[in-house]
Amino acid sequence: MATPFYVTTPIYYANDAPHIGHAYPTVSADALARWRRLWGDDVAFVTGTDEHGLKVQRAAEEQGVAPRQWADRTSARYRDAWRELDISNTDFIRTTEPRHYEAVQQFLQVVYDNGYIKLGTYEGLYCVACEAYYTEDELVDGKCPIHARPVELVTEENYFFELSRFEDVLLEHYTAHPEAIQPESRRNEVLSFIRSGLRDFSMSRTSLTWGIPLPWDPAHVTYVWFEALFNYCTAVGYGQDRARFDHYWPANYHLVGKDIVRFHAVYWPAMLFAAGEAPPRCVFAHGHLLVGGEKMSKTAFNQIAPADLVADFGSDGVRYHFLADQRFGPDGDFSHEAMVVRYNADLANNFGNLANRVLKMATSYCDGVAPEARAEGPLVDAVASAVEGMTRGMERVDFAGALGAVWDLIRAANSYIEAQEPWKLHKAGDPATGPVLGDCLEALRVVALLASPAIPRASAALWGRLGLPGRPEDQRLPDAAGWGHGPSGTSLEQGAPLFPRIET
Ligand code: ME8
Ligand code: MG
Repeated sequence: MATPFYVTTPIYYANDAPHIGHAYPTVSADALARWRRLWGDDVAFVTGTDEHGLKVQRAAEEQGVAPRQWADRTSARYRDAWRELDISNTDFIRTTEPRHYEAVQQFLQVVYDNGYIKLGTYEGLYCVACEAYYTEDELVDGKCPIHARPVELVTEENYFFELSRFEDVLLEHYTAHPEAIQPESRRNEVLSFIRSGLRDFSMSRTSLTWGIPLPWDPAHVTYVWFEALFNYCTAVGYGQDRARFDHYWPANYHLVGKDIVRFHAVYWPAMLFAAGEAPPRCVFAHGHLLVGGEKMSKTAFNQIAPADLVADFGSDGVRYHFLADQRFGPDGDFSHEAMVVRYNADLANNFGNLANRVLKMATSYCDGVAPEARAEGPLVDAVASAVEGMTRGMERVDFAGALGAVWDLIRAANSYIEAQEPWKLHKAGDPATGPVLGDCLEALRVVALLASPAIPRASAALWGRLGLPGRPEDQRLPDAAGWGHGPSGTSLEQGAPLFPRIET
């Protein structure tokens, strides 16, 4: 049976439309999913929307509609955005679905029966935008440290999850599995948070109705994070199909923003331990996209819609920017101008020109029939190191590094053309013309294959122009990336530029 591979994005709040901050982890997860499919893995790739809680309820009130109606509308906007970006998720989970209610209630009952949930009174400072309580000293100028908005004093009877009982368990887990939180800076942050002492946290409310009722006390609904995190289990069959759940769980990667690392790397594994389930294999935290130095967010009104960028750069252009131009880990500034520069340099020039000139020469010098690549030559090694670099990069969730290796191959092929000057060979009737172009076509085939997780549209188009059967995603690594695996004698087609230059 194929190896299972399970990757997730955060499920985004359904209070408002998606912005490119949400597209960033979603495109990244998509690249990982597509990459693992090339290796033949059985991939589950889940994204979705987080629809309960005050944040969504208030947004709905402002619009004068019921929370569910508002959630229906915004959730659909996320699905539309992901379709436009060619996201290949295998599921889209909404926390308001019956399957999620059932799964969460079963899970809650297990944790309750195991004795990790206790009734208590809670008084705390609550930020509605975060859906989270803060302590006095976490506030900045008396306001929420993330949203800089006033917090509210809330007192209520709550059930508490006994997180304090998991300090040692978590420390032992992360000592045994240092790879379980990445990058290392986040891991250190989480470890020192755990070492500073964990407090039980409130996991239910009586003041809310927009949520999932606790099975043993339905006057309470779950605290939004407690049930939201569980989406990752619901989506692969918890509560419905234990065999399916056991096949995919634990997740290989939860990709999350650094703003929600604590929930994923502290609360979430503890909740799973409390139910006797395995923790995720890796929580990988990425930085924030900043606009003019500030975090783009629904609450800061500085958001850019993914669709606006797709209109300018195409789906592949946007995807390439997030993967190659933003390092996955640190914060990164988003700038339209910088994006144009990189698009023109890497996609229009390096990639586009290589495809264009090779196909043009091969169609006109070789009657549109692909000549065979030579068994040896400088591009053989360049292909091998691109495969190796891409593989190493993807294993480290370093998309920029991985794609850098593919672009090294593109540059090598362009230099090879400059050095060989096939137009001169052709003019002189040199028999090397065909083999030189055959080498370039073979390099292009591997580029299309390796780049397909990042730029699936252009890769598929190029694949077709090379006259290759099927699609890049039907190929299987490592064999398909081997030199000389491209059939020769296929009929070539030049086609329009894959990445038209963007004029500034
Ligand atoms: O936190 N830059 O949902 P959310 C980069 N529902 N990434 C960004 C970003 C930015 N400016 N803004 C948002 C929630 N993100 C919860 C999650 S999971 C069980 C529940 C990305 O709509 C980033 O990955 O606020 C961040 O962690 C996530 O969107 C938060 O989305
Ligand atoms: Mg947020």
